[in-house]
Amino acid sequence: MGETLQSAASFTVEPLDRTFGAIIRDIDLRGLDDAAFDDLYQNWLTYGLLIFPGQNLSKPEQMAFARRFGDLIEELKAVEISNVKPDGSLRDAPDDDMMKIIRGNMHWHQDSTYMPVQAKGAVFSAHVVPKRQGDTAFADMRDAYDALDEATKERISSLSAYHSLEYSQRAVGEETKKENSEYIGYGMNVADVPLRPLVKTHPETGRKALAVGRHAYGIPGLPEADSEELIAALNRFAVADERRIYQHRWTAGDVVLWDNRCLMHKACEWDFSEPRIMLHSRIAGDPESEGAQPQ
Ligand SMILES: [Fe+2]
Repeated sequence: MGETLQSAASFTVEPLDRTFGAIIRDIDLRGLDDAAFDDLYQNWLTYGLLIFPGQNLSKPEQMAFARRFGDLIEELKAVEISNVKPDGSLRDAPDDDMMKIIRGNMHWHQDSTYMPVQAKGAVFSAHVVPKRQGDTAFADMRDAYDALDEATKERISSLSAYHSLEYSQRAVGEETKKENSEYIGYGMNVADVPLRPLVKTHPETGRKALAVGRHAYGIPGLPEADSEELIAALNRFAVADERRIYQHRWTAGDVVLWDNRCLMHKACEWDFSEPRIMLHSRIAGDPESEGAQPQ
């Protein structure tokens, strides 16, 4: 941990010993006045990932907090990411579509890049955690971009990639059913597969970030093999330095908030015979800055 900073709004900010991320203490996310919220928002832009231990938000409280950062994506206002069925039993069928999505998301990605407008960020909280594992890992794509050599920065400055959830699920052998699925189908059957630059400029901070992840493929202008090789190399490079990786070990009641415009994240393995229940609220991006590139 770095030094603890006292915020003007009286919460404390404990930067992680990483290129990003901070733990916020002495705060109640239910009752932030506008000044405290503005201060928190600036910290979010600075650190990219904020961790709030021991908040124990209800579903409406989480939605209300997330909503202060922007409109919530209709299908994902407060969805359980869980291996527990509504009847309380565990999902153990090998072809369970929710589990296919959960397993797929154990690969690095940014949320909703496969949609016409990618997500701005997300609020994510732990409700039931396994005894071991089940962490969530984050990667700082601003630092990844900064660390690239100049030749690579130049090479990728004008390149883009398509992003597709159907592609990425198929790539890891986890295709979901399109009909009669318990998965809501968000991200499937996207009519125009979005094309996104490999370098994303943050609309609020102006910082550049590498934008790849598991959904990216098919760079126009490159042979398929070269495109695959470049995307794989960038994905490896992005997470090759532990200074820009943080893996959060959950305690029930924790809430995190991340900026999806400059971080990648992934779920980490756990023993699926143990329940894990998380609540995810996804914040919509601005179509001006998070919209796909014209094709
Ligand atoms: Fe995700």
